Amino acid sequence: MPAKRLAHPMRARYRRELRRDPFEYLKELRRRTATGVIRLPWGGWCVSDTDLANSLLRSPEFNTGTSGFFGELLPTRTAQVAIGQATRNVLRARLPEYRDELARVLADLPTASRWPATASDLVYRSLKNVLLHPQTPTGTRRLLDQALHGGVMFRSPHVWQRARAEVLRGKLIAAVTEEVICRRKNPVGHARDVLDAVLGAGQDDLADRTVAEVFLVLFRSIIAPVSSTLAWSVLLACLHHTSDSPWPWPSAWIVREAMRHRPMVWMVGRTVLRSTEFGGLPFQPGDILSVSPFLVHHDQHHWADSDIFRPERWAESGERGPYVPFGAGPYTCVGASVALALMTETLTALTRGARLTVTGADARPVMVEGAVPRPFTVVRTLA
Ligand code: HEM
Repeated sequence: MPAKRLAHPMRARYRRELRRDPFEYLKELRRRTATGVIRLPWGGWCVSDTDLANSLLRSPEFNTGTSGFFGELLPTRTAQVAIGQATRNVLRARLPEYRDELARVLADLPTASRWPATASDLVYRSLKNVLLHPQTPTGTRRLLDQALHGGVMFRSPHVWQRARAEVLRGKLIAAVTEEVICRRKNPVGHARDVLDAVLGAGQDDLADRTVAEVFLVLFRSIIAPVSSTLAWSVLLACLHHTSDSPWPWPSAWIVREAMRHRPMVWMVGRTVLRSTEFGGLPFQPGDILSVSPFLVHHDQHHWADSDIFRPERWAESGERGPYVPFGAGPYTCVGASVALALMTETLTALTRGARLTVTGADARPVMVEGAVPRPFTVVRTLA
C-alpha cells in the first residue's frame, strides 16, 4: 500500500502542526486513527499500539540481517556489531577521563548560558580527545570542532546553511580519510580513540573513506542524543522544581525520566522485508514501519501519570511500562549504558554546589533529526 503524496494544502497543514508541537501532533494522529498503525502524512507508518510496537522491535520478521543504523556503509551484521561494541568499549574505558575534562570545561561555563547549544559544547569538549586523540592533525580536529555547530551534527532548516554544511562535511570526511590511511600504515596495538576503535574492530576490507563515514555516523550518534537528553534533563528538572532547595531527585532518575517524557530519538524504524500483514494492514517490501518512543512512553494503559514529568517514579517498586528510548530487541542501542553514565555524570557535575534556573523555557520540542528542546537560558549560581 504505497503512501500517496499529499496535496499541497494538506502538506502545509501537517508541517504547521508538526512545527507547533511534534509530540502533540503524534498524539492527535493516534486519536484520529482507528487501528494500531498510523499512516504518517510525510510517508511511512507509525505503530502506535504498544503491544504491536514491542513486536515490531523484537520479532525476527523485522529484525534480521543488518540494522538501519549505519545505512549502507557496513556490509554485514557482524561488522555492525563489532564496530558498535568497539566504540562502546573505548567510551566506557575513558569515562574517568571524561569526568576530569568535564570539570575543566565546567570551570569556564558562564553564569548564564544558551541551551541546548551549551549541552553540545559541554559533552563535545569533554569527549573530544576520546573521539580523535590529541596527536591527530590539528586541522582535522578543528574540522570536527566546526562540525559541532556547522550544521553537520544537526541538519539546518535553511537551504543555504545546509549547502555550507555539505562543504564542511566533505572536508571533514576527506581529512578523516587521510587520517585513516595514515593510521593504517602505522597501526598501534590499542584504541586511543573512537577512530582507532573502528579501525581495530577487525573490518580490514572497509575502504578508507567508508571508515571515515562510519566515524562521522558515530560522532553524530554519540554527541547529538547525549547532549539533547542532557538539555531535556536540565530543562524539565528546572521547570518542575522551582524552589530554592536542591533538586530532590538523583541525576539518574532525572535522566531516565527525561528520556521517558521527551525521548530525543522520536522514531525507531524497521524496513519491511517481504509482503506481510501487520496490525490488520498489508505492507510491501521497502515500507517503513516505525515505533515512536514518545507514544509508547505516554500510553496511559502502561504508565501511571504518563503526561507528568515525575522522576520519583524511578524509585517506586512495581511494574513500569515499556521503556524504549534506546530502541529494543536485537538492534537495541549498544551504547545505552555508557550514554546513561555520561549524562548522569554531566548532570551531577553541573549541579554540584550550584543551583540551576531556566528562563525562556518551552517543553515543546523542535524536530532536528530528533526531538530537541527549543533554545532557553540556564542560569547557574554557585553556592
Ligand atoms: C542518549 C543517548 C543515546 C540514545 C537516545 C540512543 C538511541 C539509539 C536508538 C533508538 C538506536 C536504535 C535502536 C533500535 O533500532 O532498536 C540506537 C542504535 C545504536 N546506538 Fe545509540 N543512542 C544513544 C547513545 C549512543 C552512544 C553513546 C553510542 C556509542 C557507542 C551509541 C551507539 C549506537 C549504535 C552503534 C547503534 C546501532 C546498534 C545496532 O544496530 O546494532 N548510541 N541508539
